[in-house]
Amino acid sequence: MDLSLVALFMLVLVVHGAGLDDQCPVERCAKDGPAVRFPFKLKDNKPPDHCSYPGFELSCTDTKQTLLELPTSVKLYVDKIDYALQLIIARGPDECLPKQLRNFSSHGSLFESTMGLSDYSFFNCTSRKEDGYNNYWYLDCLGGPGYSYAYTSDYSISSTDLTNCTKLYNLSSVPSEIIELKNILHLNWSTPDSGHCERLGQFCRRKNSSARIEIECYDKPKSEEEIWKKIVPPVAAVGSVVLLLVIFAAYRVYSIDKAARENQKRIETFLADYKAFKPTRYMNANLPGRPLLHALEVISEAE
Ligand SMILES: *[C@@H]1O[C@H](CO)[C@@H](O)[C@H](O)[C@H]1NC(C)=O
Ligand SMILES: *[C@@H]1O[C@H](CO)[C@@H](O)[C@H](O)[C@H]1NC(C)=O
Ligand SMILES: *[C@@H]1O[C@H](CO)[C@@H](O)[C@H](O)[C@H]1NC(C)=O
Ligand SMILES: *[C@@H]1O[C@H](CO)[C@@H](O)[C@H](O)[C@H]1NC(C)=O
Ligand SMILES: *[C@@H]1O[C@H](CO)[C@@H](O)[C@H](O)[C@H]1NC(C)=O
Ligand SMILES: *[C@@H]1O[C@H](CO)[C@@H](O)[C@H](O)[C@H]1NC(C)=O
Repeated sequence: MDLSLVALFMLVLVVHGAGLDDQCPVERCAKDGPAVRFPFKLKDNKPPDHCSYPGFELSCTDTKQTLLELPTSVKLYVDKIDYALQLIIARGPDECLPKQLRNFSSHGSLFESTMGLSDYSFFNCTSRKEDGYNNYWYLDCLGGPGYSYAYTSDYSISSTDLTNCTKLYNLSSVPSEIIELKNILHLNWSTPDSGHCERLGQFCRRKNSSARIEIECYDKPKSEEEIWKKIVPPVAAVGSVVLLLVIFAAYRVYSIDKAARENQKRIETFLADYKAFKPTRYMNANLPGRPLLHALEVISEAE
């Protein structure tokens, strides 16, 4: 049997045994993108059911960004997922979260802004206001015409001059981070509580119970290093056996060759001796010598 086939077969067995097969997948949209795993999954892939949690769907954009789309059509690029803290760090796709403000106020999202929520009143003003107040923000990324301002509603609006402004609308429970214009949003989730597994150094997945959604912790898949540690000894064993066989075969070839060469040499020596002695020893005795010499010459020519 072909030895490299045997080796390959053993490798497959070992890799299979190392448990690379039945793990939930860890995926990424880009090499340096956040790891996507339980409770998340990539929408277009179809990991086993127990590998994700309903509503925790991400997708990859054409530019390899990790996209989170909230049920209210808010689109966010996910930069980091902290699985132990159950925290997502995201930003607006066009560097302007306030563009999506009106869809943020909706409740019922699985994700919560960790930096708190506030109610705001929005105004459209014809002139730029003085900066430096913490109770209103100029939303400059929204652009013109006009100047857009967000006022916290706990600030008495009557105490500010709104003569050049028109009221647009009120929004309640808006993540303050959006108004504060860092184009960064910290969202966390409380269900499923997958972080408690992570804090125990384990991974989390859904239990296989059909009745209701439950989660369980399980041991982390082996790190690449550990897998190599499992793979290397048998591969090395197979490899050394193959190597030994190769050495043995090479030796056999060499020794057969050597024996043949030695044989040849013996015959040549014998012939040389024979020719050297022939004049004295076989000068008159042709018959016993001739056939032997002839036979030896035939052999030596055949070699
Ligand atoms: C807000 O949501 C509506 C419908 O859900 C959608 O049509 C609209 O494009 C969204 N607005 C923004 C700025 O994303
Ligand atoms: C999510 O953030 C809120 C606000 O900071 C906090 O009260 C809540 O405990 C956090 N939830 C989790 C699961 O960390
Ligand atoms: C703000 O007011 C200007 C006119 O002063 C108008 O052209 C613009 O569309 C308004 N912007 C919004 C967001 O209503
Ligand atoms: C907007 O909120 C302000 C302050 O909370 C309130 O006085 C005003 O009546 C609200 N306007 C609308 C249209 O809801
Ligand atoms: C309102 O606009 C007028 C003309 O553009 C300007 O002179 C005035 O200072 C503005 N008022 C405020 C309070 O910004
Ligand atoms: C869940 O059940 C499926 C088949 O129904 C099985 O393939 C899978 O390994 C099970 N997962 C767990 C975590 O037990």
